[in-house]
Order: sequence, then C-alpha cells, then structure tokens
Amino acid sequence: GDATATSETSGAGSERAYPVRVTIVGAGDVGVACAYNLLTRSVCSELVLVDVLKDKLKGHVMDLQHGGAFSSTRVTAADSYADTAHSTVCIITAGVRQRPGESRLELMARNAELFKHIIPPLVENSPDTLLLVVSNPVDLLTNLAWRMSGLPRHRVIGSGTYLDSSRFQTLIAQALGIDPISVQAMVLGEHGDSSFVYRSGITVGGVPLRKCFDMLPQADSSNGGFDGLVDRVHKQVVQAAYEVIELKGYTNWAIGSAVGSIVSAILQDQRKVVPISTAACALKGLESSDVFLSLPCVLGRNGVLETLQILPYMDEDERQQLRQSIAVLEEVVKKP
Ligand code: NAI
Ligand code: LAC
Repeated sequence: GDATATSETSGAGSERAYPVRVTIVGAGDVGVACAYNLLTRSVCSELVLVDVLKDKLKGHVMDLQHGGAFSSTRVTAADSYADTAHSTVCIITAGVRQRPGESRLELMARNAELFKHIIPPLVENSPDTLLLVVSNPVDLLTNLAWRMSGLPRHRVIGSGTYLDSSRFQTLIAQALGIDPISVQAMVLGEHGDSSFVYRSGITVGGVPLRKCFDMLPQADSSNGGFDGLVDRVHKQVVQAAYEVIELKGYTNWAIGSAVGSIVSAILQDQRKVVPISTAACALKGLESSDVFLSLPCVLGRNGVLETLQILPYMDEDERQQLRQSIAVLEEVVKKP
C-alpha cells in the first residue's frame, strides 16, 4: 500500500476510509439554505449537491466554494448519482413548492413522481445512508422514500415539525419576553394544518409553563392565560409558511437551520430528542398505523435510536389531534 494514507484509503491495504459526505438533492432555495447552514457548522468533509438545472447547480456550487477560506467543507456538484456514493446522509429538498394559498398536501402527486428518479439511485450508491426528506408534503414523502428505499425504518426520517417547534418556541418566547432557547416545546403530528402542541411538554428553564406562567414578566393572564397564549401562538405557527410565502414566495432560512441541526445530531451521534417525521407504528397503541408523522425521537449516528412512548402522557385532546393528523395523512394516501 501507499506509504502515505490518502482520503480514500487508510494506508492499511484493502479497507477504505471515506470522508464524511452529505448529499443534498435539489439545489433550490431550501437546498442551498441547508448547504449554507451545514458549511457554517463544519460538521462534514464534503457536501455534494444534485440538481437537474445544471447552470443553477454549478452557479450555486461555485458561489458556495468561494467561501472556502472560511469553512473546511468541500462543496461539489454531482455530474451523476455516482458522485453521491458513500454519503452518510442524503437530504432531499427537490420538488415543487406551494404557490400562495396552496397546501403542502396538494404537492403530493408531483413530488412523489420525482422521488421515483431520486430515491433508487441515492440508495444504490449509498446503501448505508440515512435519508432526510424535506420536500413537501414531508410526512407522506418520507413514508414514500422509506418504501422506495428498502432501508430500515430508523434510517429514513423527515424534518417534520422540528421547524414548527422552533417557530412555536420563538413566538411564545417573544410573547413572554424570554430567550427562545430557554423554551422547550414540541409541535407534533403532521407538518401542516393538523399539527398540534404537546402542552404539558412546554417548559421555561425546565419549569412547566402552565405552572410558572403568571410569574413571567410579560405573561398576559387576561387573554385566556396559558391555554389562550398556546392557542394563539399555535395558530401563528400553522399560518407561518402561508404568510412568508405570500410575502417572499417561499420559506428557506428556518428550515435550513433545522436541517443543519438534524444533520449535526446525526453526524455527531448527539442522541438529541427532536420532533421529526417517523413511523407512527413505533408508538404502542398505533402499531397498525402506516403513516409517518412527527413524534419525539432520540436521534443519533444510526438515525432514530428510539421513539419516545409519549401517548400515555398526552391528554385526551392531544390524542384526538394525533388521530386527526393520522386521518388527514391516510386520506391523501388513499386518494387514487
Ligand atoms: P425550489 O423550486 O427553489 O427548488 C427545488 C429544486 O429541485 C429546483 O432547483 C429543481 O430544479 C430541483 N429538482 C426538481 N426535480 C429534481 C430532480 N428530479 N432531481 C434533482 N433536483 C430536482 O423549491 P424550494 O423552495 O427549495 O422548496 C423545495 C421543496 O422543499 C418544496 O417541496 C417545498 O415545499 C419544501 N419545503 C419543505 C419545508 C419543510 O419544513 N419540510 C420548508 C420549506 C420548503
Ligand atoms: C414551511 C413549509 C414550506 O416552511 O413546509 O413550513
């Protein structure tokens, strides 16, 4: 073998040490926001971008490469899926996005069609990869990607309501006059109109918000108190994407940050508990369900290490909303 080990070999003959490679399929507004966020985190050796629009792909890759003096991650444009080989994580942000007023579920037929050309070659070139679906409707497309990929369920996830949870934490923290990072909250279910808040899980500095609500500087006890505020903020979260799309045509920065956080949790084996789209049948009591939606998962290097059995700790209203999310997703799947 070589006297000196290169990035492709360990210098110990046959075994090969591959760089930590992350592939992003879809170099659109979301894909490049994910790419940029990952570059600032320096968590991978290589970022490979894939797109069918070759000039746009080349232009984005060159522009990202030119920041090379400030980030240790190499960025390349794939000529073919062979260039994505041995990817640790493959992020899928390809597909059409909502037009103003359009729901995410209405994108299903068009984006599902694209996945037929994306998922098989990704998995053929990276049989050990984790798939992270972002394209919408993300819960349905994560389910579809899992079925198409043949990968074990724990290695196919969707960004799900991780983004909604960040929006909720940010907005409720603003209302309470505290730092969003000091608020823990999970929005669960469909990444869409039927998402819901796991209320007893909302804590401020580790204290249940329902209990400490009145002592917070800007808490407004008149307007329905804790439950009134949670209702108002959740409505803002459900409207958030529609509002931003109405204003600037698309959303990309917050989802880019959410994806950067998910990929870091995987690459660094953080075992972080995050609300991401996974198989609902992992929950005792929902074994017969065949939908994917957001549940609290322990996320590490091999994907979903554990799905927290949250059902017994939800109140009847939250269980009803979870069933509603499942019904909405099953309804679209049944449509011809
Ligand atoms: P965009 O139109 O800017 O980018 C989509 C890209 O996909 C385009 O560059 C297009 O050329 C590419 N593409 C299309 N077919 C392809 C194929 N077969 N292979 C490779 N690339 C292909 O759209 P944008 O704004 O980036 O949104 C992309 C998707 O992400 C949409 O479905 C949108 O709804 C979704 N999204 C999901 C979020 C979430 O929270 N899960 C948040 C924001 C957007
Ligand atoms: C969002 C949509 C686009 O930004 O999924 O939540």
